[in-house]
Amino acid sequence: MTGVRFPEGFQLERLRREHSRRRFQSGEGKVDEWLATLALQHQTKHLSVTKLLLDENREVAGYYTLATGQVDFGELPGQMAKGLPRRRLPVAVLAWLGVATSYQGRGLGQLLLAQALRDCWEAGRTFAFVAVILDCINDAAKAFYRHWDFEEVPGHPYRLFLSAKKLDAMMS
Ligand SMILES: CC(C)(COP(=O)(O)OP(=O)(O)OC[C@H]1O[C@@H](n2cnc3c(N)ncnc32)[C@H](O)[C@@H]1OP(=O)(O)O)[C@@H](O)C(=O)NCCC(=O)NCCS
Repeated sequence: MTGVRFPEGFQLERLRREHSRRRFQSGEGKVDEWLATLALQHQTKHLSVTKLLLDENREVAGYYTLATGQVDFGELPGQMAKGLPRRRLPVAVLAWLGVATSYQGRGLGQLLLAQALRDCWEAGRTFAFVAVILDCINDAAKAFYRHWDFEEVPGHPYRLFLSAKKLDAMMS
């Protein structure tokens, strides 16, 4: 996969104070609240990075937040855990992703996810991780992510993993 191309007039920018993040509405209160209240604070504290997709009027059409984390060896699906050391392992975390209701159903969610995975992959060239993980907010979000090659973790139906190996294959 090469670099993601957003529709003309749309721009991806790292979250800054002057962005109008409080008006964003995705239809999921938690997703909106995160952007409005915590995303910038967490970025300032180096806990996560948020990127906004801005439309022609510089309104937020969508966003995603990435962070790093660790999972225990035992939390990984068997196939993925094969050959890995039995300890806590580094992961990239797709913490949040949302598209404004006015833009949903036009492919922007898919493009944002592709860009988020690309960011993970590029970061992984320097800071290794064994998988990208995410926790789905509900069944609709899960259906959206299952379009991609994310796997469910047995016993954690709302936690999805994409192995770094699969990510490599996707990006090459
Ligand atoms: C989930 C979300 C990000 C999808 O964004 P979107 O821009 O509407 O999605 P796209 O138009 O890119 O759709 C991509 C694909 O996913 C499918 N899809 C999108 N939303 C879906 C849903 N709720 N259920 C099932 N499939 C869905 C689309 O049909 C499309 O499939 P196709 O390529 O086979 O046609 C968006 O609906 C959203 O922000 N929802 C509220 C917040 C949220 O749930 N975030 C995720 C958890 S943090």
